[in-house]
Amino acid sequence: MKIRKAIEEDVDGIAIVHINSWKTTYKGILPDQYLSSMNLEAKKKNWLRNLKMLHNATFVAENANGEIIGFAAGGPEQTNDPHFQGEVYAIYFLKEYQKQGLGRKMIKAVIHELIKMEHKNLIIWALKDNPSCGFYKALGGQVIAEKTVKMAGIELIKVGFGWEDIQDILLHL
Ligand SMILES: CC(C)(COP(=O)(O)OP(=O)(O)OC[C@H]1O[C@@H](n2cnc3c(N)ncnc32)[C@H](O)[C@@H]1OP(=O)(O)O)[C@@H](O)C(=O)NCCC(=O)NCCS
Repeated sequence: MKIRKAIEEDVDGIAIVHINSWKTTYKGILPDQYLSSMNLEAKKKNWLRNLKMLHNATFVAENANGEIIGFAAGGPEQTNDPHFQGEVYAIYFLKEYQKQGLGRKMIKAVIHELIKMEHKNLIIWALKDNPSCGFYKALGGQVIAEKTVKMAGIELIKVGFGWEDIQDILLHL
């Protein structure tokens, strides 16, 4: 398994993982109709735009065949929060590659980039109903905020996991 920085040629692999992982992760949380209509071409376009903008803190994980099986992206906090500076925007693996320690390795790569960008603290948002909240708890994240968001036409609660000192997350990685 290899973790490396994403390049623009990775958009196809990232978009495929993004859609497949959303389908398994958010089944029962987001409407089936929304998940089944996720569009690969639109996702590729989104990711191409993201890769051009995301400050080079997007990473992919490849399996032994060189296929992309996970990705993560981070950068400056996205809502002009007066306190939190760095954010991990997304981290997704295909279901068959979850819970094997890859999430820790992947997020470590992103965190090192955020530290290079001189972000002193960190926030990560997740849907409250996502079992993967356990991942952020295992990494020492404290729930410091909650907000209601509209996604796929329904209202959902997101929780914000905060690390007051970004170095603290490294103790769990
Ligand atoms: C969340 C995710 C990135 C974590 O990566 P991973 O490779 O599965 O996690 P790791 O194997 O590195 O596990 C690290 C720790 O997190 C815990 N953890 C991981 N997923 C968990 C889950 N769903 N529920 C509870 N704990 C979880 C592990 O038990 C481990 O804790 P431990 O060391 O105390 O035993 C991955 O499971 C995934 O892609 N999930 C689906 C997509 C998703 O929900 N992404 C986050 C959106 S906000």
